[in-house]
Amino acid sequence: MTHHRRKIIIDTDPGQDDAVAILLALASPEDVEVLGITAVAGNVPLPLTERNARIICELADKPDTLVFAGCDRPLQRALVTAEHVHGKTGLDGPQLADPVMPLQAQHGVDFIIETLRREAAHTVTLCPLGPLTNIATAMQRAPDITARIQQIILMGGAYFEVGNITPAAEFNIYVDPQAAEIVFKSGVPLVVMPLDVTHQVLTNRKRIEAFRALGTEPGRMVAEWTDFFERFDMQKYGSEGAPLHDPCVIAYLIRPELFQGRHINVEIEATSELTMGMTVADWWGVSNRPANALFIGSVDADGFFAVLTERIGRL
Ligand code: RIB
Ligand code: CA
Repeated sequence: MTHHRRKIIIDTDPGQDDAVAILLALASPEDVEVLGITAVAGNVPLPLTERNARIICELADKPDTLVFAGCDRPLQRALVTAEHVHGKTGLDGPQLADPVMPLQAQHGVDFIIETLRREAAHTVTLCPLGPLTNIATAMQRAPDITARIQQIILMGGAYFEVGNITPAAEFNIYVDPQAAEIVFKSGVPLVVMPLDVTHQVLTNRKRIEAFRALGTEPGRMVAEWTDFFERFDMQKYGSEGAPLHDPCVIAYLIRPELFQGRHINVEIEATSELTMGMTVADWWGVSNRPANALFIGSVDADGFFAVLTERIGRL
């Protein structure tokens, strides 16, 4: 099977795990062409997520990457952030210099719309790594683009792993449930990386030391970010390390065979406060609701870390 290089837009709220995902994409030009990176409010407010996205591009020595600021709050609800996980800057751990590369003047949502209208239909994949506000806003502002999207591969949701920000909901979906509802009902082919699979790719001492042993600045940064990022999950779950949530999205583009899932119906709770933002995944096919998502349930974790470490080592 000829391996097609995918044109992607990464929509992100960096966040240490977003950072690792962006580095993986920028280190894999034979697999993905990053048309642009659009920042969204999520883990930390928008001024920080757009700043962090630029820092990460400079760390990858790709200062020509187009970085845009998108929406600074969810469609309807107040912004909920996660400094308790990611620290005040969103990239806590190492000391980071201010970025030099410019932020694009165009709004991230307009970039998404313009790109999808310009590029041939079904040739652009969207890779949201944070709340879905930018994607949903683009779909609302330009309904014609929805049919042009090749695929949306997103990190978000949970079923067997239940929630990480409330008992019922995963953070990305919880921050903007109305946006998630629009995306999950859009009819665009979805691949969903829920906590069910991301909790299988946990860092540990050996895996973090493998990043540090690369002997490169990016390798050192990934080790320091995962060191910082894991302390929250270890305390909360008593797990041996932190789940590398967002890199699963990019790893799927590079090595889809590492992942297994089911094509099922997934709907979003957008009414009840108790279960707001829950992804109601019909894993056992008990409803007659049409399948709208490939919901990933497992991954070869060693294979994931092998490709991740090898690719980061290229930067
Ligand atoms: O729940 C995990 C998700 O929320 C990840 O994308 C992490 O970066 C945060 O945005
Ligand atoms: Ca994220």
